[in-house]
Amino acid sequence: MRMTVIGTGYLGVVHAACMADIGHDVLGIDTDPQKVALLMQGHPPFYEPGLDELLRSSVASGRLRFATSLAQAADFADLHFICVGTPQRPGSQHLELSGVHAVVDGLVPLLRRDSLIVGKSTVPVGTAAAIGCRIAGLAPPGIGVGIAWNPEFLREGRAVQDTLAPDRIVVGTESVAAAELLRIAYQPMLTAGLPFIATDLSTAELVKISANAFLATKISFINAVADVCEAAGGDISTLTEALGHDSRIGQSYLSAGIGFGGSCLAKDLRAFVARADELGAGDSVGLLREVDEYNLRRRSRAVEITADVLGGSLWEQNVAVLGAAFKPDTDDVRDSPALHVAAAMHELGARVRVHDPKANENARVAHPSLDYAPTAEKACEAADVVLHLTEWRQYRDIDPAALGAIVRQRRMVDGRNSLPVQRWLDAGWTVRGLGRATF
Ligand code: UDX
Repeated sequence: MRMTVIGTGYLGVVHAACMADIGHDVLGIDTDPQKVALLMQGHPPFYEPGLDELLRSSVASGRLRFATSLAQAADFADLHFICVGTPQRPGSQHLELSGVHAVVDGLVPLLRRDSLIVGKSTVPVGTAAAIGCRIAGLAPPGIGVGIAWNPEFLREGRAVQDTLAPDRIVVGTESVAAAELLRIAYQPMLTAGLPFIATDLSTAELVKISANAFLATKISFINAVADVCEAAGGDISTLTEALGHDSRIGQSYLSAGIGFGGSCLAKDLRAFVARADELGAGDSVGLLREVDEYNLRRRSRAVEITADVLGGSLWEQNVAVLGAAFKPDTDDVRDSPALHVAAAMHELGARVRVHDPKANENARVAHPSLDYAPTAEKACEAADVVLHLTEWRQYRDIDPAALGAIVRQRRMVDGRNSLPVQRWLDAGWTVRGLGRATF
């Protein structure tokens, strides 16, 4: 099938490359000509495992190309995926939908054949129906333009896998014909018995935002339990393992630490609450307000614990921070708990030096006042305390004895509770977690 993917951010580039990979003829559209030029050469604008190869092979096969204008999109296909960003609106809990509206307003008047517009961007419930009304006023006479919503559940760091082999495909449509068209588009992925859930527009929109709200709730739940563990002398890691063996609960999204960050979980949680308020259902989402507030308190808790480890104050202490990305296997630092903690310690007078295997440059742009080191060892030179804040594999593999020779004090705060504690203790370190006794 021929299709366009409009917006080549995280979601769009991965979706475009994967749709080309399963055999479709895809045109990616972005207003940024520099980005388009890079993408045409097969270079993704961010780090994502496996994406380089996929993009290169899709471009080389001729099934994936990029352009800058909506007129080219309208000429190219009758199926258009909207993948533009919907960030949190500054000073508000709502999402900024102007990017989505700009695409619809720009594209629909240019359409010359019956077409289907499929939103993939995360939006508050009711957006797709409102866009449907907008389309009715914009479509040229005699041209039928449908609207569908097809949420995307990809995780950064696993985006290619999550897109090519998702847990389910959800499509919200206004007609059986639109749902069938999308079933055909995803057919190569459906052969493995993957659930394909066809529903109405509102349910499809809500599936995405409530999935993220649920994941966020799991994380804040386990972090709350971690606080009680710490107070009672329990161990959150063992507790989580024991909980996870209950098949009703499972292990995933139960890693306690400095909490969730990134471009989606908090933003979607807030948008869910704001939209529920608008719909008069605000009383039903009080729990989600707590989930967000509690998550932010984890960051302050990490700073308090570090001050405590240092004897009460961070002032003029050398603090090494391992990790800047909001999670491993990405260079994304948006709403990164690690960077937030690093910046807060810097403001309290600490000399903070940060290392991240992939995100140093993005972190430097976001927080230019912090120091950045090219290696973990450089970051730890003469440190009074080391904080492990993003659980990259290479940090778990560090030799604690060798690192112990570099630092001034062998003190570790494991903000992700994922280091092999015994190895660090054997090398003479004290290790403090979030939700564990001090070792
Ligand atoms: C999330 C959703 O998982 C994905 O389905 C959606 O499409 C986009 O938002 P992502 O933002 O890539 O994906 O990150 P995710 O892997 O979900 O992690 C989010 C944050 O939670 C990270 O900061 C991570 O470190 C943290 N986290 C995750 C925990 O603190 N504990 C956990 O157990 C799991």
